[in-house]
Amino acid sequence: MDFESLALEYKTPLYIYDFEHIKEQFESIKDAFRARKSLICYAVKANSNLSILRYLGKLGAGCDCVSVGEVKRALIAGISKYKIIFSGVGKEDNEIAYALRQNILMLNVESEEELKRVEAVAKYMEIKARISVRINPDVDAKTHPYISTGLKQNKFGVDVDTAKKLYIYAKSSEWLEPIGIHCHIGSQILDIEPYKEATKITAELLKNLKALDIDLKFFDVGGGIGIRYKDEITIEPYDFAQAVLANLGESDVTVVCEPGRFLVGNSGYLLTKVLYEKKNGNKRFVIVDAAMNDLIRPGFYNAYHEIEAINKDEQKTSKADVVGAICESSDFLGKNVSLPRLNHGDLLVVKSVGAYGFSMSSNYNTRARCAEVAFAENKYRLIRKRETFEDLIGCETECLVRGNL
Ligand SMILES: Cc1ncc(COP(=O)(O)O)c(C=O)c1O
Repeated sequence: MDFESLALEYKTPLYIYDFEHIKEQFESIKDAFRARKSLICYAVKANSNLSILRYLGKLGAGCDCVSVGEVKRALIAGISKYKIIFSGVGKEDNEIAYALRQNILMLNVESEEELKRVEAVAKYMEIKARISVRINPDVDAKTHPYISTGLKQNKFGVDVDTAKKLYIYAKSSEWLEPIGIHCHIGSQILDIEPYKEATKITAELLKNLKALDIDLKFFDVGGGIGIRYKDEITIEPYDFAQAVLANLGESDVTVVCEPGRFLVGNSGYLLTKVLYEKKNGNKRFVIVDAAMNDLIRPGFYNAYHEIEAINKDEQKTSKADVVGAICESSDFLGKNVSLPRLNHGDLLVVKSVGAYGFSMSSNYNTRARCAEVAFAENKYRLIRKRETFEDLIGCETECLVRGNL
């Protein structure tokens, strides 16, 4: 990556994504499931840029969405409606209706009340709703508590017994068609065992349901495969696929998986410019033009991202906290980072920010969100322009003072 030219052309802070890497990741997971019918539904929440969705769609991906906005993004990006899944614990009636009208592959139901609402909306629309039920297998994914989703104390899914009841109910309903079963136990998972446990529980239910003449076609194992941010030992796609398939036996189902981070995480770079250096006592701070509104993961989860100075030959380094301009002490991109002496205008790059980077960014402190650039076929292309101040205030319709600005 030619970070200096990128900074000159597009300014900083700037997100850059290596599309070739996204392709390699997609192909590795698709290939791992080659022995079975499979559908890789990219978890849009990881990075919802339309160009990324379109690119993945062209490779054959579907989309896992958690809001009607994400469903709309997937459709606009050209994803086949039969490859779109709508998950999430709090779907509103209008969201359910939109998904049904668009005839997407299935709605992934997460509670009894939700199932009844889907049924009611489907009845009103006189459409049969294709559904799956999300199982909460009460399995510890051994990840950060904020991104663990498969334990009883997490809000997601329903236990196996409840799921069985929901399937029996759905089977008897004129307006529901159960076609899938789903389980997603968390994110940034580095241990294969929780996957084995969770898929075993889900596959057992699949078999039990078949015995009740409820013949599901899609077995969705969720996402969550971890990536290397520092020195983590990650799960190989082949081992992941084997862990899933070993539990499926001869069941004639399409295996669905919903990777987000795995597909885009390591593809992303956040380029930022040094504004100032300062010391409070012995503590060194490097203040940059990116901040927690651009990348909240360090402040939110204490997540680690490698940070490197661009084109600095100086061997001598010292530890510094790399911080933004936001009025929060959690506004840091890295702590105790070894960096050479830096001057105003020097560039730093924050790595592995392709997932949950831009998509979790905000306008906090009335800061415009930065631009995004794709690196594909040896060319850089702007895929989202930098926001302006006018974009930020554009929705504030009651602003009586605007004429005075
Ligand atoms: C239902 C569901 N599927 C897939 C994902 C993607 O997870 P990851 O990005 O870790 O692969 C998530 C993330 O929260 C999710 O909630």
